[in-house]
Amino acid sequence: MAAGGSAPEPRVLVCLGALLAGWVAVGLEAVVIGEVHENVTLHCGNISGLRGQVTWYRNNSEPVFLLSSNSSLRPAEPRFSLVDATSLHIESLSLGDEGIYTCQEILNVTQWFQVWLQVANPPPSAPQCWAQMASGSFMLQLTCRWDGGYPDPDFLWIEEPGGVIVGKSKLGVEMLSESQLSDGKKFKCVTSHIVGPESGASCMVQIRGPSLLSEPMKTCFTGGNVTLTCQVSGAYPPAKILWLRNLTQPEVIIQPSSRHLITQDGQNSTLTIHNCSQDLDEGYYICRADSPVGVREMEIWLSVKEPLNIGGIVGTIVSLLLLGLAIISGLLLHYSPVFCWKVGNTSRGQNMDDVMVLVDSEEEEEEEEEEEEDAAVGEQEGAREREELPKEIPKQDHIHRVTALVNGNIEQMGNGFQDLQDDSSEEQSDIVQEEDRPV
Ligand SMILES: *[C@@H]1O[C@H](CO)[C@@H](O)[C@H](O)[C@H]1NC(C)=O
Ligand SMILES: *[C@@H]1O[C@H](CO)[C@@H](O)[C@H](O)[C@H]1NC(C)=O
Ligand SMILES: *[C@@H]1O[C@H](CO)[C@@H](O)[C@H](O)[C@H]1NC(C)=O
Ligand SMILES: *[C@@H]1O[C@H](CO)[C@@H](O)[C@H](O)[C@H]1NC(C)=O
Ligand SMILES: *[C@@H]1O[C@H](CO)[C@@H](O)[C@H](O)[C@H]1NC(C)=O
Ligand SMILES: *[C@@H]1O[C@H](CO)[C@@H](O)[C@H](O)[C@H]1NC(C)=O
Ligand SMILES: *[C@@H]1O[C@H](CO)[C@@H](O)[C@H](O)[C@H]1NC(C)=O
Ligand SMILES: *[C@@H]1O[C@H](CO)[C@@H](O)[C@H](O)[C@H]1NC(C)=O
Repeated sequence: MAAGGSAPEPRVLVCLGALLAGWVAVGLEAVVIGEVHENVTLHCGNISGLRGQVTWYRNNSEPVFLLSSNSSLRPAEPRFSLVDATSLHIESLSLGDEGIYTCQEILNVTQWFQVWLQVANPPPSAPQCWAQMASGSFMLQLTCRWDGGYPDPDFLWIEEPGGVIVGKSKLGVEMLSESQLSDGKKFKCVTSHIVGPESGASCMVQIRGPSLLSEPMKTCFTGGNVTLTCQVSGAYPPAKILWLRNLTQPEVIIQPSSRHLITQDGQNSTLTIHNCSQDLDEGYYICRADSPVGVREMEIWLSVKEPLNIGGIVGTIVSLLLLGLAIISGLLLHYSPVFCWKVGNTSRGQNMDDVMVLVDSEEEEEEEEEEEEDAAVGEQEGAREREELPKEIPKQDHIHRVTALVNGNIEQMGNGFQDLQDDSSEEQSDIVQEEDRPV
């Protein structure tokens, strides 16, 4: 969420602090701001008028001489010089110049003044900003941090686009009410530091309302458990996820209990209902994602059913198997006579006369249609025929065919297969010849 600003070139801020107490308490509140490679002047107290001999020291563990107004003493470094015979002028500042400086002035009495030279630095990394729901209220809190610098930076929160100022502070925290928020709105934090870049660094947050993903229907068996899931996406700041039931109006928030287990992992929430009962649990459940940016709700219908018992399932499977067997054996009986009939048809004048009479007189048209089909499909397709044809054949027909089998010549059935083959090959060659003929 944080958009970085480039780290500025270090500059130096010089703070002249009145750190010396008591007897040398002369006005030392002057603050001098400089930059690295630039010059700075430290005053030896805020005294006007006649000045005595001034000597400057650098306070480390022991005072180190820097320079004096006594011209017979050489400055410790050429960078140091005196301005107006009292103030310390340091050329080309560096970060190492940070520390305590002391000046000694000898007039009628000897006076000491201490100066705290602090080298200021901008924060070393880019500013960070984020949005969160303010605890205890339905407001949005914008926070901007830019740590590690001295002195504290300034924070300016503005709306983007438009640049409307939300607030300016040293803390970087702003509170926004719902009316100031809308889906997709951006807020930019512009930071500035006394030694930072002129343009400052910045970061941006974009607030987004939540979207919901859930399954619209769930089923639970009586006495069993069921888990409803609800997935929130896109929400920034993250939304608060609630489970509700609309048994009454307004809807009631489901509280965790021995029967209701609510878990949340990131922006995914689950509601597990134990020991489902139709009276208590069937109905609409609502998953709600609450955010100051927007509220989304989704309904889930839970139906509670009686569990299937295993005995029932096994019984059903067995019945289905038996039914299947019955159908197959019926079909076998059903189709065998077809071959018998064909035997009769292709060998007229033999012992099949009674079969012919029965079939021809009552089923003539249907049998003719079927014969064509049989011939086209061929004898190898016999097995498939058994599956495909029976639906169209009325029950009455079945009886006739059985009759035909009973009356037919059993011996002839064996040859019938061969006869059928001959029959169909004849038919096929006929078709080929027809196709060859010019139209
Ligand atoms: C610092 O002081 C020196 C000598 O007084 C001067 O020549 C130089 O221009 C100054 N530098 C800056 C950055 O002011
Ligand atoms: C000395 O301090 C007084 C008040 O604290 C201020 O008005 C004045 O400008 C200072 N003088 C110098 C030379 O800094
Ligand atoms: C700096 O030097 C002065 C004078 O010697 C001394 O009084 C003071 O305590 C020193 N301060 C530190 C922090 O060393
Ligand atoms: C200046 O310093 C020299 C050498 O330390 C010393 O002899 C001389 O007395 C000093 N002058 C004054 C006015 O303090
Ligand atoms: C310092 O001495 C001069 C005379 O030598 C006197 O006029 C002045 O008042 C004295 N200053 C202080 C602070 O004692
Ligand atoms: C339902 O959940 C409870 C508690 O976790 C468990 O003891 C029980 O075995 C579960 N029942 C079923 C049918 O999964
Ligand atoms: C609960 O919500 C469903 C779906 O919107 C609705 O049909 C039903 O009437 C509601 N029940 C109550 C008690 O409001
Ligand atoms: C499940 O609920 C029924 C009533 O709905 C209750 O009699 C039974 O004791 C419950 N079982 C468990 C394990 O809580």
